[in-house]
Amino acid sequence: MSRRKIIAGNWKMNIKPSETAALVKGVAEATKGFANVEVVCCTPAIDVPAAVAAAAGTNVGIGAENCHWKESGAYTGEISTGMLLDAGAKYVIIGHSERRQYFGETDETVNLRARAAIAAGLTAIVCVGETLEEREAGKLVEVIERQMNVGLKDVTAADCEKLVIAYEPVWAIGTGKTATPDQAQEVHALIRATLAKLVGAETAEKVRIQYGGSMKPGNAAELLAKKDIDGGLIGGAALKAADFAGIVAAAAAE
Ligand code: 13P
Repeated sequence: MSRRKIIAGNWKMNIKPSETAALVKGVAEATKGFANVEVVCCTPAIDVPAAVAAAAGTNVGIGAENCHWKESGAYTGEISTGMLLDAGAKYVIIGHSERRQYFGETDETVNLRARAAIAAGLTAIVCVGETLEEREAGKLVEVIERQMNVGLKDVTAADCEKLVIAYEPVWAIGTGKTATPDQAQEVHALIRATLAKLVGAETAEKVRIQYGGSMKPGNAAELLAKKDIDGGLIGGAALKAADFAGIVAAAAAE
């Protein structure tokens, strides 16, 4: 089964609206030769309109980094899927470990956000991953299975095809420590097996699973060569068009 590789940048809380067009245009220019890879920039919500405008007519899709599950109402500071769609976003990251760690995100709220994003027609990039403490305590399988089972509760097989899973070991994010290709592949296989139990093997084979955590041009190829690694969710290296394009080039060569 061949799954189209997807490389998405997660800009996090970096890049101002006034700096957005230059980065998106730089990414588009540097990656335009790699039509076999889906290229995405997920930006702070306030950057989305500028990013969408800069990406018009290019190979780059634009996404946000979070969304709320309600369509509108008294939720100060939140952003709905309808608002993101209206601004031209096509993707949204859900349940990033930084949201879980600093903003009280739970598997239950991940589930609400993921279902809202899918229902709205956005491609949800749902993040899972263990902390170092959990890994060292032998809880890797338990944590990933719980995040998947609760986070994707009531997501149907048809809906599952509209999402992407990102495996981001928390200990590898922004630390310069990367999971080895074998370590990453082991968890990607676990994620696919867990998906198969939830929505059937046929659907599970279609779902793309990204690796995230200090992915860069120098280590992308060996990670992306693994059977169940279908792309990357990139933090630091997404902030420079040349670095990001280096990862896209590695994906294109697979
Ligand atoms: P880094 O690539 O900076 O480690 O961040 C990974 C990440 O969290 C992407 O969502």
